[in-house]
Amino acid sequence: MTQLYSKLATIYHEMYQHIFDYDQEFNFYDALLKRNNCQNILEIGCGSGMLARRFLKNEYDYLGLDLFNEMLDIARKETNSDSFIQGDMRNLSFEEQFDAVLITGRSIAYVTENLGILDTLNGVSRSLKPKGLFVFGVFEANGIFDNFDDFEQLIEHENKKIRRISKLQKNLSTGWTYDWHARYIIEQDVKISEYDDVTTLRAFTKDEILLFLKLTGFKINEILVEGKALTFIAEKS
Ligand SMILES: C[S@@+](CC[C@H](N)C(=O)[O-])C[C@H]1O[C@@H](n2cnc3c(N)ncnc32)[C@H](O)[C@@H]1O
Repeated sequence: MTQLYSKLATIYHEMYQHIFDYDQEFNFYDALLKRNNCQNILEIGCGSGMLARRFLKNEYDYLGLDLFNEMLDIARKETNSDSFIQGDMRNLSFEEQFDAVLITGRSIAYVTENLGILDTLNGVSRSLKPKGLFVFGVFEANGIFDNFDDFEQLIEHENKKIRRISKLQKNLSTGWTYDWHARYIIEQDVKISEYDDVTTLRAFTKDEILLFLKLTGFKINEILVEGKALTFIAEKS
């Protein structure tokens, strides 16, 4: 498993506020949740709480779940709240049911096996009220494998320069999986530190996701295409 959310959690938090547009992402979810009268929500893969901060500020009844305590520690500090719980999305179990469940940041990419996907979707279904809203994004397999290029990023955060060199390698052992090898070079004042990280991610075709959703009793309302990603808006039927 990657170290990006444990040993490198602070680096993730510093980098991704410059990579993702969390305001735009929040506005998308906010409009959708309001349109569907959803007030109490579960965010899965909430990470360091960048969306949590916005949900809480806008007075949603919010609970964030993530696998890594290091990410949740940052989220708690960022939001000054304890609306977070450590857990694995493949093993969801709540006493309450939510109006909406969101898996954000394409976090389901870390669930690489079919049974893990089915466990996740069945758990989401159990966690939702009847007709509850389920929104999640995936990396689309054609988009990923058509442009399977190495890439490099340079992010400046306060007095830190974070350079990430990424190399991709086909894996294909449990679906459209690939290995992401990343070297992080962090320069702060005159000190340079380097870390190597590797993780396996899964991309999906649209039809694979439609079948997973059908097998777990979801009705699809809308599919949005954006670059190499697909967003599914579904409801518990
Ligand atoms: C790309 S990050 C997205 C974080 C956050 N949504 C954001 O947009 O910044 C993926 C997140 O998924 C979490 N994650 C990975 N596998 C998980 C699992 N099995 N259950 C719950 N969370 C998981 C990671 O810890 C990480 O915080």
